[in-house]
Amino acid sequence: MNRAPLIFLSIFFALALSWTGIVLVNQISYGSLQPVYDENDGKAYPLQTPGLAARGKLVYQDLGCISCHSQQVRRLGYGSDIARGWGERQSVAHDYIREDRVLLGTMRTGPDLRNIGARQADHTWHYLHLYDPQITSAGSNMPPHRFLFETRKVIGQPSPKAIQDKLPEKYRPKAGYEIVPTERGESLVEYLLSLKDTYAYPETKNVYVEPAPEAGKEGEKK
Ligand code: HEC
Repeated sequence: MNRAPLIFLSIFFALALSWTGIVLVNQISYGSLQPVYDENDGKAYPLQTPGLAARGKLVYQDLGCISCHSQQVRRLGYGSDIARGWGERQSVAHDYIREDRVLLGTMRTGPDLRNIGARQADHTWHYLHLYDPQITSAGSNMPPHRFLFETRKVIGQPSPKAIQDKLPEKYRPKAGYEIVPTERGESLVEYLLSLKDTYAYPETKNVYVEPAPEAGKEGEKK
């Protein structure tokens, strides 16, 4: 008996079914999501990533930050993300609709960064942390990114962007030199500061689920 048609049909239906489940259903549920215009402040959310920050996203991709950091806050009851202060609410599809490449990540050696711009809004903190994580976060196992800075001789006026005075003694260059972030360093920090999903979309008002019983204290924090 010739089984070829049967094998062909089985493969066809298996592929059609997975395409429907993985592509079509998601396209129907999320594909039509549009930015939400807020009449109170005249802005459409999620906000566009400003130019410098958009360049910083490329640096983030290039340096592989995604290998240690995720960008998605899990809902209450599915982990301790909210109790850890990684977000005020869980991430929803709306948060990502303006992004051509979504950097959800799969590994969390370090904290989730989806809201780092809301939780740590100080440029200097980020520069010191990138220069050497030990300065701000002793014991950190994040590698230093000193190549995002340039040590150079001060010629004329010192740069307003120089950070050496904020560094601990042992990192300071000799007199007459300054440490300034490179363009990549600057845009990376702009990108980090742009990461904040605090806008309350209609669907985020009801996204909290009852915490699982073992989540105990995390639930109370809400
Ligand atoms: C080898 C893993 C690793 C890599 C690669 C890594 N990080 Fe980290 N990161 C960590 C760890 C661990 C922490 C927590 C300790 C600390 O604050 O340094 C952290 C913390 C941070 C924080 C502070 C988060 C907070 O909640 O305070 C920021 C911002 C950050 N990383 C940005 C980056 C960026 C940007 C890159 C890429 C240039 C990067 N990290 C690459 C491991 C990593």
